[in-house]
Amino acid sequence: MAAVDQGTTSTRAMVFDHDGRVVASEQIEHQQIFPRAGWVEHDAAEIWRNTRRVAAAALASIDLTSDDVAACGLTNQRETTVIWDRTTGEPVHNAIVWQDTRTGTLCEEMAGDEGVDRYRDRTGLPLSTYFAGPKIRWLLDNVDGVRERAEAGELCFGTMDSWTAWNMTGGPDGGLHITDVTNASRTMLMDLRTLSWDEEICAQMGIPVAALPEIRSSSEVYGPLREQGPLRGVPLAGILGDQQAATFGQACLSPGEAKNTYGTGNFLLLNTGTEPVFSEHGLLTTVCYRIGDDAPRYALEGSIAVTGSLVQWLRDNLGLFREASEIERLAAEVDDNGGAYFVPAFSGLFAPRWRPDARGVIVGLTRFVNKGHLARAALEASAFQTREVIEAMQADSGVELSTLKVDGGMVVNELLMQFQADILDVPVVRPVVNETTALGAAYAAGLAVGFWEGEDDIRANWAEDKRWEPTMAADDRDRLYADWNRAVEHSFDLA
Ligand code: G3P
Repeated sequence: MAAVDQGTTSTRAMVFDHDGRVVASEQIEHQQIFPRAGWVEHDAAEIWRNTRRVAAAALASIDLTSDDVAACGLTNQRETTVIWDRTTGEPVHNAIVWQDTRTGTLCEEMAGDEGVDRYRDRTGLPLSTYFAGPKIRWLLDNVDGVRERAEAGELCFGTMDSWTAWNMTGGPDGGLHITDVTNASRTMLMDLRTLSWDEEICAQMGIPVAALPEIRSSSEVYGPLREQGPLRGVPLAGILGDQQAATFGQACLSPGEAKNTYGTGNFLLLNTGTEPVFSEHGLLTTVCYRIGDDAPRYALEGSIAVTGSLVQWLRDNLGLFREASEIERLAAEVDDNGGAYFVPAFSGLFAPRWRPDARGVIVGLTRFVNKGHLARAALEASAFQTREVIEAMQADSGVELSTLKVDGGMVVNELLMQFQADILDVPVVRPVVNETTALGAAYAAGLAVGFWEGEDDIRANWAEDKRWEPTMAADDRDRLYADWNRAVEHSFDLA
């Protein structure tokens, strides 16, 4: 079973066997484009070239041909938005990335007197720079000719799943213009209950519905891959946003089960079953997955914009270390954070505070503080932010977390995982297959073609690799968390 994971920093292709084990994996990073403060873009054409290269390389690495692959799943960074010409396949502009804050004023205007929760009862989301709808509106308003060409039916709108699926299934030569319910639920344009585009919201945002992709389930045979290369003819049979895919790959298939992914940001999703639960504590309501014609499953989500990308920032912008993995050794040189707290509000603050005007701060500095303390404060920021969203989730759902299932790039960091268990006072558990995002997309595709029979196969494949038990004294935990909360208040100083 093959899967493509089109992420924020890289694109990877993986092949899994029936036990859900990785048998091949290839990955290529793409350029992060920062045209101005707060703006983040990707070159969608570069991402498509990389997708083809990793898919070919992954199969070639173990001498597979398309005959050996039962199906392919697709998962992606969510919300990142691209508009392209349906005849030439040329994007009209760089993709606008989920972290980008250029639509701040637009969102304020759209909120008007009704406030940021104007569309929450239909979409599950607050008006925020994070989501795709306002990004589409920005492109329509700011790129020459786009609105006219869209109204003339020349352009396709989409998130990265749509862009990748369209190219994989033929591009200008009959490519499928589709998205799945999980990705569509991140646009602010889909009604969570009907799972169709909300024409009133689209009209109010000035977005022509005809240019939006068709909304499909997360697991069905959409069509064959038609790109040249070793996957030609393989059915594309699963599409999920990456955080929903990780939830699926972590076998969080029953209400009350949750996972936390440590990627460029952190994303905690709690499966709430067949009914959407609306948050009163700053979380999002989102579609978790929909298998074929089954009832959709919903999730509550706590999205944290900056966790792993803070480590990249320390590496790339401050030169604190050469490899991201070195942060653990640096942080281990000191016993604690030395009184320093790092609030990485680079895209404002997402859940549970939703403050687009917040900015990053480091507080508590003295001459005593060194690189090790800063490294530790940066890691601790991921854990503190996670505690904030878990508290919100418990308040919204009444579900007390007994363990926290984790995955993603940062969970190899033992120091962070121990601190996470300590600051939550809950055990943290890592699965054997940490590539849960690609695995979840492979599962969705595999269910559609009968490679896996049902959810029991997915549960049976999940196995624990490592568990961190909390060891911190309650007083220390309370003091650290209270100081973190005081530090966060300073991220609003320049607002
Ligand atoms: O919502 C954004 C999220 O999907 C990005 O995930 O893993 O690409 O940072 P990741």
